[in-house]
Amino acid sequence: MTHIRKAVFPVAGMGTRFLPATKSVPKEMITLVDRPLIQYAVDEARDAGVEEFIFVSAAGKGALEDYFDTAAALETRLQAAGKTEALAALDCTRMAEGALTLLRQSQPLGLGHAVRQARKLIGDEAFAVILPDDVIKSEKGALAQMVEVHRELGGHMVATMDVPRSDISKYGVLDVASEQGRVSRALGLIEKPRADLAPSTKAVIGRYILDRSIFDQLDNLGPGAGGELQLTDAINADVSTVGVHGFTFDGQRFDCGSVQGYVQATTAFAMDRADLQSEYAAFLNEKRQPFRLVA
Ligand code: UTP
Repeated sequence: MTHIRKAVFPVAGMGTRFLPATKSVPKEMITLVDRPLIQYAVDEARDAGVEEFIFVSAAGKGALEDYFDTAAALETRLQAAGKTEALAALDCTRMAEGALTLLRQSQPLGLGHAVRQARKLIGDEAFAVILPDDVIKSEKGALAQMVEVHRELGGHMVATMDVPRSDISKYGVLDVASEQGRVSRALGLIEKPRADLAPSTKAVIGRYILDRSIFDQLDNLGPGAGGELQLTDAINADVSTVGVHGFTFDGQRFDCGSVQGYVQATTAFAMDRADLQSEYAAFLNEKRQPFRLVA
């Protein structure tokens, strides 16, 4: 039995890097091969034992609700037409009764502010946070890997990844006290530091397991980097109390909040699909010459 039963999915961001698509399509509904980003996130949470899914959403994101709702007319038609395979493709979108809760973040005041909306629903237990635009391709789900290690360590845990120093100022960064295997103990965390001031090159990626103490820290904080209420700052405020560990997951992370990361993920996930890979590989190979960069 997992000790992490609840996960928060902050999906209230504006997704400006994906305009114009995100003018009417929530970023989390953008499709990687044949399923939206949110499906990958929910699958990863289920794989880690999560039973309650809390979406912190915003105006204009109704497609996310519809996606996990029953599509009665569609299902009746598929049934009548004997399209059992198409019907089975909907299985992953079904939620157990009461398993999905939607909250509203009235203004996009930052990731910390989005997570704070879930306080009452979380109650007194540790919980996960998953950012659906960070897609992680791995044998064992990244959150499941974290849950296993968190069971021993407790406190706050953040997923980490080593990135080139030239990229570090895009991330929350760990100040590392000590490292053992995939686990590093943090002395502190800093959001989007200047490259020359970053305490390490260990970047925080969008998977967290948090102690409920995070809500008190979020209440006490003011705006941080970019004028937003930063989750990183709240975690940092707990280093000397509940403790913070970084966990370098086994897997490949794609930043699907950026167009570059998204197109790379599309190729990686398509090449991993038995039903697509041979034709797609042939297409890529055939096109390799014309893909040379034009100066
Ligand atoms: P991003 O930093 O990617 O921001 O948010 P964004 O608005 O989604 O996208 P851009 O930068 O404008 O292209 C990281 C995660 O935090 C959530 C987002 O939905 C995303 O999952 N978020 C961010 C919120 O839920 N609320 C916020 O106020 C900010």
